Amino acid sequence: MPHLVAPSLLSANFLNLERDVAMLNESQADWFHLDVMDGLFVPNISFGFPIIQQIRGATDKILDVHLMIVQPERYLERFKKAGADIISIHAEACSKPLEAFKTIRGLNAKAGIVINPETPVSVLEPLLDFVDMVLIMSVHPGFGGQSFIPGTIGKILAVKKMLQNRENEFLIEVDGGVDLQNAGLLIDSGADILVAGNTIFASADPQQTILRLKNIR
Ligand code: DX5
Ligand code: ZN
Repeated sequence: MPHLVAPSLLSANFLNLERDVAMLNESQADWFHLDVMDGLFVPNISFGFPIIQQIRGATDKILDVHLMIVQPERYLERFKKAGADIISIHAEACSKPLEAFKTIRGLNAKAGIVINPETPVSVLEPLLDFVDMVLIMSVHPGFGGQSFIPGTIGKILAVKKMLQNRENEFLIEVDGGVDLQNAGLLIDSGADILVAGNTIFASADPQQTILRLKNIR
């Protein structure tokens, strides 16, 4: 499968959200990556249901919702109702992830598990049969525009290895500090989806940057 590019709307201009959504609709972007932060799991607060719902009304592209909130199981149904196609929860934030995945899939959404930079890939092992995606954080979650943590490459390689000899498949997504310099190596290491916020939205020509990320391999 050719890799996908998922712009993170965290770096969009919220006073011109309609313009930015239209720009992404016309671009080669595959998914919209939507970062939900509660000010508890991460030291930042972003946006929630009303924004997601309005974005849902403005695009047909897949909404990839990354929940950086404590006890995400409280809100899975609401995020699905708001328009999420994929719901990813942090391993560090959820005490019963298997139940959460069951709920997400029962809602007819795809389930993702996210691990922070300091969380070892070994925590994924018992969860992999029940997810559609593994999201590997390559920065400490909470803010856009941080620099990529190089140790992430080893984690991508390790998770890619876990895919071997499995019956079920899952996608590998990388989030944080992705740029035109490291994107190729991320793909070569096994990433299927590249999330990019600052690299796209701070560039002079975001559509061109998306195209370059798409064509990097
Ligand atoms: C960070 C978020 C990311 C962020 C990525 O907590 O999960 O999705 O928006 O932004 P960049 O690509 O700027 O690092
Ligand atoms: Zn994210």
